[in-house]
Amino acid sequence: MKPWETLESANLPDVGELTLVRRGDEYVLRVRGQTLMSSRMHGSEEALAKAGCAGVVTSGTGRVLVGGLGFGYTARAVLDTVGPGVRVSVVELLPTVVAWNRGPHLAPLAGAPLEDKRVTVIEGDVGDVMAHHSATFDAILLDVDNGPSALTHPDNQGLYGLPGLSNAARALRSGGTLAVWSAGPAPAFERRMEKCGFTVEVLHPHAHGTKGPRHVLFIGKLGRSRR
Ligand SMILES: C[S@@+](CC[C@H](N)C(=O)[O-])C[C@H]1O[C@@H](n2cnc3c(N)ncnc32)[C@H](O)[C@@H]1O
Repeated sequence: MKPWETLESANLPDVGELTLVRRGDEYVLRVRGQTLMSSRMHGSEEALAKAGCAGVVTSGTGRVLVGGLGFGYTARAVLDTVGPGVRVSVVELLPTVVAWNRGPHLAPLAGAPLEDKRVTVIEGDVGDVMAHHSATFDAILLDVDNGPSALTHPDNQGLYGLPGLSNAARALRSGGTLAVWSAGPAPAFERRMEKCGFTVEVLHPHAHGTKGPRHVLFIGKLGRSRR
């Protein structure tokens, strides 16, 4: 088997070593040696966008907040789902990840979503962005970690707790959707979403194609019942 080739690496304060590696046509983003994202599996990242944006207008205006850029698959799927008048804010904690997404290795993977005129890139914490907005977004999509119970960034704990979910609810317009990606089930998180006013549907899309492991999506609708 071919060895992994390191394409980029950066040592980031409070994060540790971030590396972008490639083997054949597979790209992997690692934080402190742990895989955060692989280009081989992005079916559930795209499903997050489709389920989260189902209520967002395909014509006219609307606003979508995407938390976590990664390799840009979710952002791309949002752009392919919503209409030309919808504005999409993509928030990424690590400026290095944004820079790599504009570079020759990552930009082509998801069709260069950052070049789309509808996109604004915000370098920062999606938790802060939600905390500073009120009744603004039609959909908020969060894929910033391995999910509510598996954190690669310990500071993200707050996003998945009651204060973070309350901020998400406040940042959404009435009838808006909070969609959260998770590597596995998280029943306590689902209950917290409900406590914050969301009616929750849980989806189990395949990580890739129609076979193999499944991930979990929590799709929370605010102010309208889906059951
Ligand atoms: C698993 S990747 C996202 C994958 C993405 N959905 C895709 O389709 O490629 C998680 C991303 O979230 C970023 N991130 C982690 N914590 C964050 C936070 N609090 N705010 C914004 N971005 C964050 C990470 O740096 C990483 O780029």
